[in-house]
Amino acid sequence: MKYSRLIAGTMTWGSWGKQLSKKEIEALMNFCITNHITTFDHADIYGGYTTEANFGKAFKDASIKREDIQLISKCGIQLQGDARNNTVKHYNYSKDYIIWSAEESLKHLETEYLDLLLLHRPSPLMVADEIAEAITILKKDGKIRDFGVSNFTPSQMDMIGLRMDIDVNQIEYSLTEHAAMHNGTLDFMITNGIKPMAWSPLGSVFKDDNEQTRRIHKQLGALMDKYNATEDQLLLAWIMKHPSQIHPVVGTTTKERLKLAIEATKIELELEDWFLILEAAQGCEVP
Ligand SMILES: NC(=O)c1ccc[n+]([C@@H]2O[C@H](COP(=O)([O-])OP(=O)(O)OC[C@H]3O[C@@H](n4cnc5c(N)ncnc54)[C@H](OP(=O)(O)O)[C@@H]3O)[C@@H](O)[C@H]2O)c1
Repeated sequence: MKYSRLIAGTMTWGSWGKQLSKKEIEALMNFCITNHITTFDHADIYGGYTTEANFGKAFKDASIKREDIQLISKCGIQLQGDARNNTVKHYNYSKDYIIWSAEESLKHLETEYLDLLLLHRPSPLMVADEIAEAITILKKDGKIRDFGVSNFTPSQMDMIGLRMDIDVNQIEYSLTEHAAMHNGTLDFMITNGIKPMAWSPLGSVFKDDNEQTRRIHKQLGALMDKYNATEDQLLLAWIMKHPSQIHPVVGTTTKERLKLAIEATKIELELEDWFLILEAAQGCEVP
């Protein structure tokens, strides 16, 4: 895998969250790289189509070599708002739109190529042949290196995969949202050599206070001493134990948390501890 084991998600770096300044973005990029997080996950829509450009301005002036990092972006979601004249939120996977959107991402990110372009969400109206044409052109022109999808089911991967290789599927996967390991998504990806990346890898554990998250905190609390680890580290270790070799896309912009996250890649949860944590999430033992 040419991507770092942990991937830095940029969704909240800009106006959708922390509103980092150019200097802060540069510092955060450097911090990530020093800590072996060399892959940065973007989407055209982050910050209402503004975060890629914020990142690109910082990258342009930083002394970071392009070949030392990997840039991911996504296309296809058409938001309503000031940036685009759309009457309704929708998806667009026409050949021309995919090519145009990827080229916009290149311009904004101040780069010649994307390491990976993802179709952000499946559309009921997507046509595999048309997508394949766009991806073939983008690859031939050296504008993208890998192609992938995001939030795709096995049958959607099958359909698109008939026309071209899918390198990655970026899915929602965490202790509190683990349908992908039961509904065939991760099995399909192992069988077909499609690499999984997991967005929102901490799930709702720090967002919600309910019976489930209280059970999870209790169980993680009981294991923290044994592994000399924090709760967020145990949550990451839990998803990384899956045999599909999931790459978590971490969303934090807090340097201490990023450092803890990278250290979590060394934690090997014991088999029964993994199931104890699953049981806490499910509220019952496995059948
Ligand atoms: N493909 C898709 O459809 C899709 C959808 C959504 C997201 N994504 C990608 O996935 C990335 C990550 O998503 P996410 O932000 O939901 O991921 P996450 O890593 O599960 O959550 C990170 C958030 O949790 C907060 N947090 C609270 N307590 C924490 C703790 N103890 N340790 C670590 N973080 C803690 C962080 O706050 P602080 O920042 O204040 O530390 C941050 O806001 C996004 O940036 C984006 O690149 C992709």
